Amino acid sequence: MGGFKGRDVLSIADFSRKDIDLILKAAKKMVPAARGDKPNRTLEGRILATLFFEPSTRTRLSFESAMKRLGGTVIGFAEPMGTSVAKGETLADTIRMVESYGDIIVLRHPQEGAARLAAEFTERPVINAGDGAGQHPTQTLLDLYTIWDERASIDGTKIAVVGDLKYGRTVHSLTYALCNFDVELMFVAPPGLQMPNEVVEHVKGLGLPLTVTGDLGKVVSEVDVLYVTRIQKERFPDPQEYAKVAGSYRVDLALLKEARKGLVVMHPLPRMDEIAPEVDETPHARYFQQAFNGVPVRMALLSLILGGTA
Ligand code: NCD
Repeated sequence: MGGFKGRDVLSIADFSRKDIDLILKAAKKMVPAARGDKPNRTLEGRILATLFFEPSTRTRLSFESAMKRLGGTVIGFAEPMGTSVAKGETLADTIRMVESYGDIIVLRHPQEGAARLAAEFTERPVINAGDGAGQHPTQTLLDLYTIWDERASIDGTKIAVVGDLKYGRTVHSLTYALCNFDVELMFVAPPGLQMPNEVVEHVKGLGLPLTVTGDLGKVVSEVDVLYVTRIQKERFPDPQEYAKVAGSYRVDLALLKEARKGLVVMHPLPRMDEIAPEVDETPHARYFQQAFNGVPVRMALLSLILGGTA
């Protein structure tokens, strides 16, 4: 899509491979500033507005950290109860207000398509920080960064995405993004939680090698990356359906016995019981590094969108 200045980040599908490569390289340069080792005042005087209608720890705080590491400031809310949204204000009106208070808007909302709708009501750039079971494009950028940084290349990687592939927005965005690369994919999910058909068809249409299975034990020895996700309890219309699949898969030391030496285990977090704490001490665990990577990646993105450079 070309230039980044003023651009919305609504769906990862709007990003070409060239765009992704540019962001990853820009993010790498941001690492010393992201760690606080090197001052960077690129966005001094600029204001980021974070509107979180759903819970968040990493996404909101890493956006805040990223903006502040670049010399900017942050306004916003972490839950709508203290705002006029609780009085019944529409998303459209909230956005119309916020656009006069901030230079760029980060939105998380339970409804699919909310970020796209918000973008129609403002000239300010809107970043989708998760829209229901839809997409989570900036999570994907940090996921791609993590794979690239670990393996020096995303091409040639065999990746299993594991867990709630039906409701998990991170795996939807990640799969679309990986389709830009020469990768082999495996979708591993409990019954009823497999990847939506349109995503499967998209992968197949591109001719990428794909395995769809419920058997984590079978694929673990074959892959370079295990991308594990939480069952998205809050999206289940029926709690009994959740009870049926809760605890149905777990990555632990016994499972990893069969793993390749260089296997990288990722997770967007928060984890429940799908990765045993004992895995944290193994050389495979990369989820905390992955969470840190959200800072340099979001710095690169904010800098490119607001300043036009990185
Ligand atoms: C994810 C999300 O919100 O979609 N978390 C995150 O942003 N790191 C994953 C999840 O909630 O399971």
